Amino acid sequence: MKAHKISDRIYALHADVKTEDLFEGIWPIPDGVSLNSYLVKGDKIALIDLVRDWGGAPAALETGLSQAGVMLADVDYLVLNHLEPDHTGWLADFRRINPKVRILATAKGVELVKAFYKVEDGLEAVKTGDSLDLGSGMVLSFVEAPNVHWPETMVTFEPSSGTLFSCDAFGSFGMLGDRVFDDQFNPRELERFEAETLRYYSNIVASFGPFVRRAIDKLAGLDVRVVAPSHGIVWRKEPRRIVELYSKYASYLDGNREKEICVIWGSMYGNTERGLAAAIRGIEDEGVRFTMHRVPNEDLSYILSDAYKSEGILVAMPTYEYKMFPPMAYVLDMLARKHVNGRSALRIGSWGWVGGAKKEYDEAIAALKWDSIESLEWAGVPDEAVLADLRERGRELARRVKAAK
Ligand code: FEO
Repeated sequence: MKAHKISDRIYALHADVKTEDLFEGIWPIPDGVSLNSYLVKGDKIALIDLVRDWGGAPAALETGLSQAGVMLADVDYLVLNHLEPDHTGWLADFRRINPKVRILATAKGVELVKAFYKVEDGLEAVKTGDSLDLGSGMVLSFVEAPNVHWPETMVTFEPSSGTLFSCDAFGSFGMLGDRVFDDQFNPRELERFEAETLRYYSNIVASFGPFVRRAIDKLAGLDVRVVAPSHGIVWRKEPRRIVELYSKYASYLDGNREKEICVIWGSMYGNTERGLAAAIRGIEDEGVRFTMHRVPNEDLSYILSDAYKSEGILVAMPTYEYKMFPPMAYVLDMLARKHVNGRSALRIGSWGWVGGAKKEYDEAIAALKWDSIESLEWAGVPDEAVLADLRERGRELARRVKAAK
């Protein structure tokens, strides 16, 4: 993989990983993911973030380094902004190749190096305000950014180029190919990355929105001219664009969400689906945008992405063995874990011989503090009166979405 110059002494290196594996063992990555590392050459040499032995990433890293005239054994300092194994999994091998390298991480990061890789020496804990002078004008400054999204996380800043090595923050799913900079992608490609940024954020980082905001506030005093994350595009033309996107996503926690409805539905024999069609007509009557996600057919990762940004949620599911439709129970559990709070919501669904989903549903969403319209359930096929009622409830949900702050 090519080494891309950010400045005379800083290079972006990346490994594109195309795999059937799920990211974090949960999230599909049909467009793959890039593992980005950065090389900073002063009199001493620093490598910022490593890779996992995944999809040929170590070989890609080695190739990128050699294009910048550096061998793995030449690296003096390895800066680990974050210890999740996608950025550190190859550490033990790297240390065997380069036993003299000094490893810098936060104090919590150092503990994780010991726990994950049983490395005990050559470790140095750094904290906010600390810096590493590499010579020839290259200085790396460290800023702790806990819980974005692990507790040991930090970011690294190089002032002469204004490059912020932000690790997972400002990252995205999706491979890069031969290009890495925002100005090398056309508007359509950037739009695709933006969708994958939201999916990445909602899947990986969303639980820690307040910490994202805190980190962005901390960085406000830095003259950031390049945002260099550990996944996805390096932003040199419009670094504010990715920071603003992350700020917007973090603000979804407080409202300011898109005036859309995320419809999550499942149906066994078409009766819930028939009722849902009437509720959808009600939403259309009010002209509100909506997205449709059928469970279990569609992966949770995409549902979460749309639910996270949407002001409204419509849940349609039948009762199954006295309780919720099981795939929906999984989705609602994840919405609660990812703090998809405070939405305008409606639940509808059919039942066969007896209802029962309501109690379990109410328990599942209790912590989410949704502003819920009264549920509507019906036996078997929905009759005209039920369909008219469903259409009106769809309208009401759409009106609430439009009126939300
Ligand atoms: Fe990309 Fe949290 O690791």
